[in-house]
Amino acid sequence: MDKKFEVLPEHIAIIMDGNGRWAKKRGLERTEGHKVGAEVFRKICQYASDIGIKYMTFYAFSTENWKRSEKEVGKIMDLLRVYLGEMEEREEENEAAGYNIRFIGSREGMPEDIVTLMDIVESRSNDKDKIHINIAVNYGGRAEIVKSAKELAEKVKNGELQPKDITEDMISAGLYTANQPDPDLIIRPSGEYRLSNFLIWQAAYAEFFYDDILWPDYTPADLDRAIEAFLKRNRRFGGV
Ligand code: FPP
Repeated sequence: MDKKFEVLPEHIAIIMDGNGRWAKKRGLERTEGHKVGAEVFRKICQYASDIGIKYMTFYAFSTENWKRSEKEVGKIMDLLRVYLGEMEEREEENEAAGYNIRFIGSREGMPEDIVTLMDIVESRSNDKDKIHINIAVNYGGRAEIVKSAKELAEKVKNGELQPKDITEDMISAGLYTANQPDPDLIIRPSGEYRLSNFLIWQAAYAEFFYDDILWPDYTPADLDRAIEAFLKRNRRFGGV
């Protein structure tokens, strides 16, 4: 594929929103929207890899999403199960695609078979580096910061660390995204203007791009538009 952009954001994060509304508009069950949403997720991963994006993070399931009906939660878990099963079965294809997959979020409370598959897929892909794909499942940004704080508190308790020596880098190192660059661009389709507890620490200097499209309608051309808008912005990181 020809080089489409001379420069690219290194890390793009996407809130896959609007599946329910997409389905409702068509007189379908909400779960049908998630099904199409999962296909769009696959396509966008492939496209991002093709154009040379190094890190993508997708918000698939938040800690708050457990409040949805049992049927809807079950369907989202099933879609994950299918995706993970495919990743596990098609090892050679994945090897060639060079996906490095990481699940960010708490494993606690997740179905055991999914946790097992997550561990397998992560460990088999952790030496790849064409593109890093983070899938946020049972994820909450505040909870992630609390997790990091607890780890540092343990070190203080054990005498390995002095409170005055705690740095921002140490907090970052305790997050699920440890050793990864912060997102440069966060995209939220579906006309919502909220961060919804997504990567709240990592988003400190991210550019936001909001879009009216519902996630099941999202295409590579929409990702291109977001990247183009990002490239026109002048990022100063607090400077002048
Ligand atoms: C938000 O739309 C979407 C979700 C909470 C679920 C996203 C999950 C997937 C796309 C499937 C995950 C599968 C894989 C393989 C990663 P919404 O339901 O809040 O839509 P609404 O705002 O229109 O109701």
